[in-house]
Amino acid sequence: MRHLLTGFEFSQDEYLDIINTAASMKKDPKAYADTLKGKAGALLFEKPSLRTRTTFELALFRLGGHGVYLDEQSGELGVRETIADYARNLSRWTDCLIGRVFLQRTLEELAATGSVPVINALSDLYHPAQAMADYMTVGEHLGSIKGTKLAYLGDGNNVTNSLLVAGAILGVNVTCFCPLGKGPDVQIFNKAAEIARKNGSKLEVLSDPSKISGFDVIYTDTWVSMGDNTPLDSVRKLYMPFQINDEMVEKSGAKIVLHCLPAHRGYEITDSVMDGPKSAVFDEAENRLHIHMALLAKLVG
Ligand code: CP
Ligand code: NVA
Repeated sequence: MRHLLTGFEFSQDEYLDIINTAASMKKDPKAYADTLKGKAGALLFEKPSLRTRTTFELALFRLGGHGVYLDEQSGELGVRETIADYARNLSRWTDCLIGRVFLQRTLEELAATGSVPVINALSDLYHPAQAMADYMTVGEHLGSIKGTKLAYLGDGNNVTNSLLVAGAILGVNVTCFCPLGKGPDVQIFNKAAEIARKNGSKLEVLSDPSKISGFDVIYTDTWVSMGDNTPLDSVRKLYMPFQINDEMVEKSGAKIVLHCLPAHRGYEITDSVMDGPKSAVFDEAENRLHIHMALLAKLVG
């Protein structure tokens, strides 16, 4: 049994296999209609979601399975009953647990105590299924993934960490431009950088976005993540130099712009970029569905 908890679990071949399967499913979803026939997945969400919830639920449905949404936004897991008992119960009825949680260790505990695959649908540290859809989108637009140059701008967060992990495994060069003290997780970065070296690519973190140039893809995410009550306007000054606007796109040389969404227009990205010719953000959002189908087929099928 395999889980997707961090994104470090899979080899380059497995990442490519998931991305290629997702591409086939995108072309001909009906051919996979019985892949998860009679199976069910529980979606437990401690935080809001539009894309991840919808696409995991639809992915289960399109594969012939069923999703049960458990709204845990009113109370943290582990309070009404222990996380272990929660996992043991759900393992008796369902074939996988898809969890969006505050703490990575909640997912680790579900995986350790349950008996079905656990899939990370976002935690404080990772958003691994997002990164798979992101690199699928890069491949579609640029014709290849390995060796491409991606710049991430803004807050070093869960999405950044997963772009580094998946990027390292896929041989992508990832440069993070983040304000000092706001970079990605150091331990995750170091572990990913080691993998990148073996795959002939490079990861780096820089703090001066004015030097941006020679990239294929630029990517941003919110300056304040879910669960952090800092008002967006209070960090505006700190992050404004990292905003993806027309000038930043031009200087970077990027052919496409990505954003995991939801976007805060006028903050980390401008309307003109979001709605402009280089924006691939809605292709990226669409690919969440296809990647989730491929992931579920691999882990649960
Ligand atoms: N990108 C993403 O995970 O979106 P949701 O928060 O809407 O699921
Ligand atoms: N970093 C963001 C991603 C949302 C999909 C958050 O955690 O809120």
